[in-house]
Amino acid sequence: MLLSIVLLFLYLSPSRSSRLCGHLCHCFEHSDLVDCHAKGLEDVPHGLPHGTWLLDLGGNKLTVIRSRAFAGLWSLRILVLSESSIQDLQTNAFYSLSFLEKLDMSHNKLTRIPPHFSESLSSVRELRLNHNALVLLKSPGLEHLENLEKLDLSHNRIHSLEPGTFRGLSRLRHLYLQGNRLGVVRDGSLTMLPGLEVLLLGNNNISRIEVNAFAPLHSLSLLGLEGNNLEHLNFKTFLSLHTAATHLQLAGNPWNCDCDLHRVFSKLLSVRHLHVDDYHNVTCQEPWQLAGASLAWVDGQLCMAETVTVLVITVTVIVTVFGALIMAERKRKKKKHWEQSDGETQDH
Ligand SMILES: *[C@@H]1O[C@H](CO)[C@@H](O)[C@H](O)[C@H]1NC(C)=O
Ligand SMILES: *[C@@H]1O[C@H](CO)[C@@H](O)[C@H](O)[C@H]1NC(C)=O
Repeated sequence: MLLSIVLLFLYLSPSRSSRLCGHLCHCFEHSDLVDCHAKGLEDVPHGLPHGTWLLDLGGNKLTVIRSRAFAGLWSLRILVLSESSIQDLQTNAFYSLSFLEKLDMSHNKLTRIPPHFSESLSSVRELRLNHNALVLLKSPGLEHLENLEKLDLSHNRIHSLEPGTFRGLSRLRHLYLQGNRLGVVRDGSLTMLPGLEVLLLGNNNISRIEVNAFAPLHSLSLLGLEGNNLEHLNFKTFLSLHTAATHLQLAGNPWNCDCDLHRVFSKLLSVRHLHVDDYHNVTCQEPWQLAGASLAWVDGQLCMAETVTVLVITVTVIVTVFGALIMAERKRKKKKHWEQSDGETQDH
């Protein structure tokens, strides 16, 4: 955001003096900004001013970031490497960037986070890796990002979070994982994130959440689970969230609207620190009679079937018992009648 504003300002102000530097880039004098955006570069250019504060290398064809590619740029605070077809990072790729605060590597072709990735990045507060091709997150890889507050991993192909992946990210407040392929949220995959406030898991393929998966997240205020593959929920999963207030997003899942689900949602809606933001958009997929219906709308009737079943059983039992009693009574009367008739016959 800040970056876009700064760049927009620069692009729109022709009065600013700039000169060519690093062959194809524009260096904005007095402001230490270097614009190398979409210059067809295949390598990080040499000879950039040592005082560079912001470097935009987006929209190029870098493919691989070589070892020490940014050597000497000690002052760099913001580095944009988006849309540059980056597939790999050599060891020490970010050597000398120890004051870097924002790194944007979105819209590239990374399939993994190399184990040495975070080694020089301990000052980074915001890291964007969204829209890459990451498959698996595991440790090591991110553990030196001890000042990271915002991590965007959305729109990758991540199918599993290994335990300990986020170890070391003790300052993390926002974690974006929407648009991936996660299937199960396991206990232990989100540990050591005491300050996490926003966790976006929407538009994955989550069909199961283990009961204590969210339990370590004591600061969580927003949990997005919309657009997944959830049919049922376990109330305990959310009861284990010991937070002041957490907003949940649960629409767009193939809910199986039965009496159980009704009970879970009733409980969720009654717990004071939990808020289902999109309850009125929570719709049923199963049973087929209710497909497309809003849960809020059919809510009260979901346990009707159960009530009816109980009623039918009760009535059947009563009818049977009564029937048996009546039959017994009839038999007794008949017997008496026969006995009486017998007596009368014998009298004649
Ligand atoms: C989503 O999860 C289901 C199992 O719940 C699995 O059969 C299916 O292949 C998964 N889909 C994708 C796109 O990963
Ligand atoms: C419910 O869904 C509609 C249509 O998809 C959307 O416009 C609206 O913002 C949603 N409301 C909530 C509370 O999510």
